[in-house]
Formats: sequence, structure tokens, C-alpha cells
Amino acid sequence: MVEEVVQETPTKAVSKVRGVSGSSQVKHLAEIEGQKEERVPVEMEEFARVLGGGIVPGSIVLIGGDPGIGKSTLTLQMAMQLAEKSTILYVSGEESERQIKMRAVRLAGEEKLPNNLLLVTETNLGVIFEHIAQVKPSLVIVDSIQTVTLPEMESAAGSISQVRESAAKLRELAKLTGITVFLIGHVTKEGTIAGPRVLEHIVDTVLYLEGEHFQSYRLLRSVKNRYGATSEVGVFEMQERGMVEVRNPSEVFLAERMINAPGSAIAVTMEGTRPLLVEIQGLTTPTSFGNPRRTANGIDISRLLILAAVLTRRIGVNLSNQDVISNVVSGLRIEEPAADLAVATAISSSYKDIPVRADTVLIGEVGLSGELRMVGQMQTRLREAAKLGFKRAVVPKRLRKSEPWPEGIEVVEVRSLKEAIQEALLPVK
Ligand code: TYD
Ligand code: MG
Repeated sequence: MVEEVVQETPTKAVSKVRGVSGSSQVKHLAEIEGQKEERVPVEMEEFARVLGGGIVPGSIVLIGGDPGIGKSTLTLQMAMQLAEKSTILYVSGEESERQIKMRAVRLAGEEKLPNNLLLVTETNLGVIFEHIAQVKPSLVIVDSIQTVTLPEMESAAGSISQVRESAAKLRELAKLTGITVFLIGHVTKEGTIAGPRVLEHIVDTVLYLEGEHFQSYRLLRSVKNRYGATSEVGVFEMQERGMVEVRNPSEVFLAERMINAPGSAIAVTMEGTRPLLVEIQGLTTPTSFGNPRRTANGIDISRLLILAAVLTRRIGVNLSNQDVISNVVSGLRIEEPAADLAVATAISSSYKDIPVRADTVLIGEVGLSGELRMVGQMQTRLREAAKLGFKRAVVPKRLRKSEPWPEGIEVVEVRSLKEAIQEALLPVK
């Protein structure tokens, strides 16, 4: 429970703007200008993709993520690129100007520092607004929203009411002036500090930067976007000199794959509009003590439990006395059931100690009766698999014939998980 002090002044000011006495006007749809969407291009394509193709002027974007995941680094890199063409104001409440400068030098080198990137360490939103009025930037970055405060409010920095009111003020600024605002927000586990969740409805776009700290890949994912598709991902790698774009994530994710090792299968998952090939690993070992354990990395544990049950009951892969581990290589989290077939096949491949055919990808949802179910965007998935050199795909049987399957890949249609596993595993000599 967080105590919130009711404020008289801010609420009144808001109601005046939005109320009947405000300056809004009712218009016909056709009268309203601006059919064409302008976008400021972003050099990093992986970033632009997640934004829906570039920055929409006057929009307010939230970048959330765990502390230390690379939000400041990525945002600073973008700011430095944009500052070649326009004025950018980077407001930090966390780091000194010197620290940011040092990071900028590390990212771009001393000789390549842009002229139009302005830095200030400030947490008072009133003062920040004065700076904005003075330097008239086209983009303001606030790092982080949890550090800024509205002095007229009594609650502490980072409390729900502070974070929400500050963000609302910044949104008003964006909408009235056309200045783009990027907010950085920490996702925190404690309940006392307001995380980005509180802000999701205030901003136009919510991006989350995710990844395992001990792995170098970072995924920038859009969870809300008023100007583009959601669940779009951009893939980056954290290196010595900042975040480097990964343009061909499937190739990179598959690079360390061991061919003909039991317990490995390739799934094709859709992340937004982009197909990604990922290696799924499964491992079974006899339970040595107590109840068998199930461990899932990168897939939902309940999905794994279902698949283990289906394998045991319908396929004859008896996992009731086996510990089962499944893992998505690369640190990606797969939410969609289209990877079911690959997970189940990887597990049975490990159980039987027979490798999955190295040239085969597996796509399909598994039902409780052990049947395979069709998933969306099959053509896109198959084309991507063919592009990366895969020769066969085991997929659910089509009940409606529409377009022919793409060229360059043999598509094996099966009805059940059992047949799929037979098709996928290398024939036993
Ligand atoms: P940072 O952007 O400060 O994270 P956040 O703003 O999300 O809290 O990133 C911090 C981490 O990134 C830190 O552990 C060091 C690492 N890092 C690199 O590996 N390479 C770099 O070039 C930079 C600037 C940081
Ligand atoms: Mg930071």
C-alpha cells in the first residue's frame, strides 16, 4: 500500500485544459489535417523497426527494463546519431554530465562527438521545462522517470503519484509542442517504487529492453505502439563499445548449434512481423530422488508441463520418472504455441537419444490428444527457414488448401505429434 497525498492544484489545472471551457473543437474527419505520417528516420534499423519505422514527432515513448540492462546506453547511442541533424536534450537524474560524456566517448570516440547533443543533470521537472523552453530541442530524453519530481507534490521521487504526474506533464509537453519525449523507466521488483507499468496508458509507445545479464543479446520489444505493430523485436548485442545491431538474428542464434546432437530442434517463431529461427534444447535424465522435476528456460513452464504430459500419455515417451529440462538458446522468450512441436521433439530426441535431422525445422502447436494444430503466418515462417538453408519442414496438415507452399523447402504435413517426431528424428540404423 502506498500513501498518496491528494493534490489540489495539479488536478484543477488539468480539468481546465480538458474541460468544457477548454479550447477544443469538434471537427469533421475530413477536415482534420495530417493524412501523411511524418517520421524521423533512426539510423539503427533494429531500433526503427520496433518504433514502427522511425520516430513520430510529438510522440512519447517509454523504454523500460531491468537496471543495468542497457537502456541508457542504447538511448544515448540513438541520441548521438540523431544529434547530427537536430538538437537533442538528454536529461539525467541518475548520472553526472561527466559520466555521460565518458560513456559517449566510449561509444563514439572523442573525435566523433555530435555538436547538438545537450546534457543536463536535473531532477526538478519545473527546471527541466525551463531548459526545454530555452534550448528548444526536437527530442528530450528523461533518464529516468523515477528520478524526476514535481516540486509542488509532496510525495517522494519515484512514488506512483510523482511518476504518473511527471509523465502526464511530459506528455502534455509533447502533444502541445511536437517535441518528442523518450522516458526511461526501471522495472522494479519492490512494490514501493512505481515501475513503467503505471505509465503504460499515458505514453504512446512502450518498449521493453530484455535479456539475460550474463548473455550479451538484448531484445528491444514493443508491447504497445500507437504508431506501429506490437510485439515487434529488435535484436542487439551488448559489446565493448555499446549496443551493436544484430540484423540476422536467426543466423546468430543458430551459430553455436551442434549438428546431430540429440535433444536439439529448430523452431520458427514469429516475433511481431519477423520470423526468427531458434534452437530449442531438451534434456531428460532419470529422476534420482523424489518427484520428477521440470525446468523451462525461455518457454512457459505450464506449456512444458502440458507437453511432458502429452508425450507421456499419447506418444509413449514415458517422462513420469524423468527430470525434464528445456531451454531456448539465445535468451529469447517464446510466448506462442507454434514452438510446441520443436519443444516436444527436442525432449523426445533426448529421451530416445536420437538426433533430429539437421536440415529440418519444426512448426506447430500440440493439442492435448497429441494432435498437431495449424499456426498463423506459415508462409513467412517457411520462407525464412528456406532462406537460412533448411531443406525440410515438419508442419501440421492443412485442412484448407490456399496458396502453395513456398519454393525451396520440402514441406512434410502430418496430423499427429507421433508422426511428426518420426519424420523429424534421424532414422535409426
Ligand atoms: P546502462 O545503459 O547503464 O543500463 P541501464 O541504463 O539500463 O541501467 O548499461 C549498463 C551496463 O552495460 C553495464 O553493466 C556496462 C555495460 N556496457 C557495456 O558492456 N558496453 C558499453 O559500451 C557500455 C556503455 C555499457
Ligand atoms: Mg541508466
